[in-house]
Amino acid sequence: PRILQGIGAIALIGVIGGLGAVYYVADKARHPGTQLPFDSTKKTIVVLGSGWGATSLLKGIDTTEYNVVVISPKNYFLFTPLLPSVAVGTLSPRSILQPTRYVTRHKTREVAVIEADAHAVDPVKKTVTFSDDSEIRGLSSSTTISYDYLVYAVGAEVQTFGIPGVQEHACFMKELEHAEKFQRRFMDCVETAGFPGQSPEEVERLLHMVVVGGGPTGIELSGELHDWLKDDLAHWYPELSDRIRISLVEALPSVLPMFSKQLIDYTVSTFKESKIDVLTQTMVKEVKPNSVILQMPDKSLKEVPCGLVVWAGGNKGRKITVDLKAKVPGQTNPRGITVDDHLRMVGTDGIFAIGDCTSTSYAPTAQVASQQGAYLARVFAQIAKKTSLEARISELETKTPAAANEEERKANAKELDAAKKSAELVAIRPFHYSHQGSLAYIGSEKAIADLPFMNGNIASGGVATFLFWRSAYLSNLFSLRNRTLVANDWWLTQLFGRDVSRN
Ligand code: FAD
Ligand code: NAI
Repeated sequence: PRILQGIGAIALIGVIGGLGAVYYVADKARHPGTQLPFDSTKKTIVVLGSGWGATSLLKGIDTTEYNVVVISPKNYFLFTPLLPSVAVGTLSPRSILQPTRYVTRHKTREVAVIEADAHAVDPVKKTVTFSDDSEIRGLSSSTTISYDYLVYAVGAEVQTFGIPGVQEHACFMKELEHAEKFQRRFMDCVETAGFPGQSPEEVERLLHMVVVGGGPTGIELSGELHDWLKDDLAHWYPELSDRIRISLVEALPSVLPMFSKQLIDYTVSTFKESKIDVLTQTMVKEVKPNSVILQMPDKSLKEVPCGLVVWAGGNKGRKITVDLKAKVPGQTNPRGITVDDHLRMVGTDGIFAIGDCTSTSYAPTAQVASQQGAYLARVFAQIAKKTSLEARISELETKTPAAANEEERKANAKELDAAKKSAELVAIRPFHYSHQGSLAYIGSEKAIADLPFMNGNIASGGVATFLFWRSAYLSNLFSLRNRTLVANDWWLTQLFGRDVSRN
């Protein structure tokens, strides 16, 4: 009994200590201190975007030596890997958002966070023009500011290849509002199918969900949709749930081309068990209000009735990116901005470009964008160090000859020598990407992972990988607050299921 009492006491102290630590961290996060004001003698870094690249930069940057201005139409960071979970109600939207000010208010110097769309960058005058395009606008809603350095991290938009009807009739899965719209439309299809007197053909159409694109977005959404169907809708809509069908359409011969062959096969067989139809070598040619036109592997065209189309067809550059590239000679790569190995936009002065808006040898992923953002934070620290050493060198160079006495002259010369050596040592190394592996959720509490190991790769799929997937994303969330919200949502969904109300 004494031993048990001892263990109990230690456990209690552990729990109290743990809760105390959580409270301390949360309290610190909620009450940021005072910040240094803007300083007109410092250089200004303008950051466009508040996504993976920009937020990772903002987390790492030391603002002591810079004025930083963030411009983004969203005043938050969106944790995209869990967006499909929001679309089906496993997670609530706010759990995967982090207001940008939660990061910037903790910086040494004030950071201006402006909710606005950047419309034009002038790489010669070094200016950015932006405007408030939100619903509510004040008397001042458009302006132009100058930058010394520009971090261009506006991401990409959805590639539709100009296919007729996609913009008008399909849902996307890139922004928070897309996930919310998907949820509303999906439930509308279900409720409409339940309307009295609906013909069997119409019920079949309304309950046919077509996901276009067998990349990770399309796969994860299909898997999550299947879970919603099996875990929740089957209980609340028993008369309809058996008739809900999911088709995944992919133009290429295989889904998930970035994963290893065995994981592709595993995904396809899991989808088969989940009754998700995978149509490869099938291309969507048009999206109509109530159907999709498919070009089948034998090149014949087929009109397939459906209630909802989700378009996950990949990325393309935003208009502002296309315009910026057009202003810079040599920026001709249609895939995005060409950068050098230090992430400087080729052909410009002071512009760094990171993430999905660039064209590099890396895949357009959060992993790449966040490493690039963290790298730029280090680059700016090195630039600041070098600039301050150079300023000191020029100060000492003018001071030394005019020194009052020999002793002072020697001391200056010694410091000058040391400063020059330190300045030489400030090396700004090229960006190096470290691939941590690829992960995707495929539904039915299964995930797939291609993880680098030694000089090879470990491919794993299943329930254990699903637990790994969850823990990896939980630890990748940027704050304790978001980790707590997401963990709580998972637990609540396990306990009470997903909501089926249509708001
Ligand atoms: P984004 O994160 O898209 O950020 C762009 C920012 O620019 C946004 O804040 C946007 O509001 C802002 N912006 C847009 N226009 C303007 C403008 N005109 N002016 C100023 N700001 C502007 N990658 C992974 O590695 N792992 C995953 O599991 C994963 N899952 C994903 C799931 C989904 C559903 C999606 C859609 C993507 C996923 N990705 C994943 C890819 C990943 O989200 C992107 O590669 C990543 O977001 C790119 O970061 P970014 O900073 O370049 O762009
Ligand atoms: P994607 O570019 O990876 O896949 C789009 C797919 O749509 C392609 O396979 C393409 O062939 C197909 N497609 C395009 N037009 C079509 C048509 N008309 N008919 C049929 N199929 C068509 O795009 P996705 O999935 O949105 O991913 C974008 C980026 O984000 C990728 O780099 C991806 O790696 C990353 N991402 C990573 C995730 C993860 O690691 N878990 C999750 C989601 C995205």
